[in-house]
Order: sequence, then structure tokens, then C-alpha cells
Amino acid sequence: MMNNPIGIFDSGVGGTSIWKEINALLPSENTIYLSDSFNAPYGEKNKDEIIQLSIKNTEYLLDKNCKLIVVACNTATTNAIKVLREKYKVPFIGIEPAIKPAALKTKTNIIGILATKGTLNSELFEKTSNALDQKIIRKEIVGKGLVELIESGKLNSKEMNTLLLKYLKPLLHQNIDCLVLGCTHYPYLIPQIRKIVGNKIKIIDSGEAVAKQTKFILEKNKLIHFSKKNGTHHFFINKQKQVLEKLINKKGIENIIIEELKF
Ligand code: SIN
Repeated sequence: MMNNPIGIFDSGVGGTSIWKEINALLPSENTIYLSDSFNAPYGEKNKDEIIQLSIKNTEYLLDKNCKLIVVACNTATTNAIKVLREKYKVPFIGIEPAIKPAALKTKTNIIGILATKGTLNSELFEKTSNALDQKIIRKEIVGKGLVELIESGKLNSKEMNTLLLKYLKPLLHQNIDCLVLGCTHYPYLIPQIRKIVGNKIKIIDSGEAVAKQTKFILEKNKLIHFSKKNGTHHFFINKQKQVLEKLINKKGIENIIIEELKF
């Protein structure tokens, strides 16, 4: 069981930002990553659709004997993780926008949150937000179109810059000092975001915390793979694989297979 893979799924290629953190912290673990790029973005879908897609992804990973599943997608976590945890025995790690750490770090008490419509409208996000100190003011922005551009390989495009300016510029006059990236695709935009918001605003994402939580849950369930060898990594994508290959940037990482297939 211990050498069974960790399963990771996302609506697309963005969850590879989480895979990188997990691989850095747990290099001997084998992983299977499922990129449901054909159905991306999940952020504009309704809750039932997101649950059905999350179930399909989970079953695919369970068929490959995954010992733990990371839902590397904020939209899928906030809408479907409760159902997944009730339906399957395997441990699940989810990802929520890092608003709690931002609330602890902010000095102005005003935080910006960039996320999908599906995440910002979810019950789980509302519950987490309501649990924050009442003095914290949230400025929420729907990053409509950002995931689609990343999925189509337009990470560094003019269209991307135009959208980021449109979403982030208004925040600059609102005294925010923390910006939460509430979608696993968005860490790939940090260089462009930094250029727009400058150095005074802290950019916060959940990648490192998710990797630590994955390690903690593996240890708790006695599922850690102890080995001196690096793990093997199998990526499945139901669209063309070039964008995924570019983001993974295989330099220095052995044992990677990337496969296109229908699922
Ligand atoms: C999406 O598919 O719309 C975004 C994925 C995420 O919320 O992390």
C-alpha cells in the first residue's frame, strides 16, 4: 500500500503547481496526476456538474490504486470534497483559498481574493469567510477567463496582461496588503501579478500548506513511502499535452510520463 501512488486531480494543468510542492516535499512518493483539461474551467459550472466531474476523476484515480487523493482545484474542493469524503474511504486533501493565513498576516485588515465564480459562491468558502475576524474586509474578484488562457498556453500573452490589469488595478486603490490566489492555476501568474501590484502586497497561495498537510495525513495513516529512490510520476491529460509539458518543465525531474487519453 505504501508504494501505491498519491492521486492528484484538477480541472486542468493548474494543479501541477500543487504537484510541484508535493514532489519537492515528498520526493520518494509515486504520483498520478489527472488533468481534466477537456472540461476546464470548472469555475463557471454549477455545483452538480462539478460534483459529477470530481467523482469521475476520483474513480479514475482509485482504479489506479491511489492511496490518497489531492483535489488540486479550489473549485472542486469547495463544491465537492464533502461528497467525496462521504462516498469513498481513501483520505482526501482539499484546497481552499488561503484566507485564514492572509487574515493573520494583514496589517490593513483588507485582503484581496482572486478566485473563480464557483469557489467564491460556494458554501464552504462562505463558511470559512464567516469564521474570520469580523474586522477583516474581503475584496473578492472573479478571475473570469484566466484559467482558459493558461489552458490554451497563453500564459504570457497580451490578453492575459489585459485581464490581469482589469482585475487587479481597482484593488490597488483599496488599501489591500495581501492578495490570496484562490485557484491552483494562478501561481503560474505570479510574475505578471507582481509587476502589477508591486512589492508591498503579499501574494499568498496554498501550495506549500497543501504539501505539508499531505505529508501529515500520509504519516497519520502510515502511508508514507520510505525509499531512497525518487518516485515515478504519471500524468494523464484529456487534451493536447504540450501546455502541461511546458508547465512541468521536466528539467531535473526523472521518471515522468505524460500521456494524452480520453477519460
Ligand atoms: C477552474 O477550473 O475554473 C479553476 C480551478 C480552481 O479553482 O483551482
